[in-house]
Amino acid sequence: MKRKKIVAGNWKMNMNMKESNDFVSKLSKVSFDNVDVKLAPSFTNLYHINSMLDSSKIEVISQNMHYEQRGAYTGEISAEMLLSINIKTSIIGHSERRKLFKESNKILSKKVSSAIKNSMNIVFCVGEELVDRKNNNYFDVIKTQISEGIFHLKSNEFKNIILAYEPVWAIGTGITANLHQIQEMHEFIRDLINKNFGSDISNKLKILYGGSIKPNNAKEIFFLKDVDGGLIGGASLIFSDFISIVKSANEQ
Ligand code: PGA
Repeated sequence: MKRKKIVAGNWKMNMNMKESNDFVSKLSKVSFDNVDVKLAPSFTNLYHINSMLDSSKIEVISQNMHYEQRGAYTGEISAEMLLSINIKTSIIGHSERRKLFKESNKILSKKVSSAIKNSMNIVFCVGEELVDRKNNNYFDVIKTQISEGIFHLKSNEFKNIILAYEPVWAIGTGITANLHQIQEMHEFIRDLINKNFGSDISNKLKILYGGSIKPNNAKEIFFLKDVDGGLIGGASLIFSDFISIVKSANEQ
């Protein structure tokens, strides 16, 4: 099945207002028909960047959200707040959230539920640590992250889900998983969804790869059968690199 590719830039805690503004001024002038482009700036720049890209096809998304709607959760942002500024998609479960901010599968499943309840879309991230790779239990780790994170959803809610496989040892390290490792895991994930939710859902599900995607490796990664695009960290901060990666997806 042909699935339209997605390239999503995750700026993490980078890019102040001026830098974001300069980048997006250039980005708003380019358009690609064959690829869905998404950009996740910091919370402070979401509103402004979203207005700048209002008339473009690029979607501005959030890097994170809390599972409660409102309340005494200092420093947090809810689905309701995101929707109120027209942000309809959030990344959930990025490995930095899991690792640095101790977000467990249980917390992440609550975030997923909250996003779905608010009809938001989710880029749900999973990925094993280097030690899991070395101990050969990476399939189990991914299976647990996926089943505990999103298996409580109903079949018809999967249309709101994009998965991102990001091996932790490849994020920001310059080490990319090799093509065999990437395809093997993406196939495993699609098969897992197929076994639990059927082939219609698994065939439509988009699974992105993330972890040191750069202009020089994007094309071969995007070419893999079960890879539907990429979640880009470091290279999304450099305009020419990001555009070149988007082009690689657009050409397929
Ligand atoms: P990276 O980050 O491209 O810098 O490895 C990917 C990510 O964290 O999504």
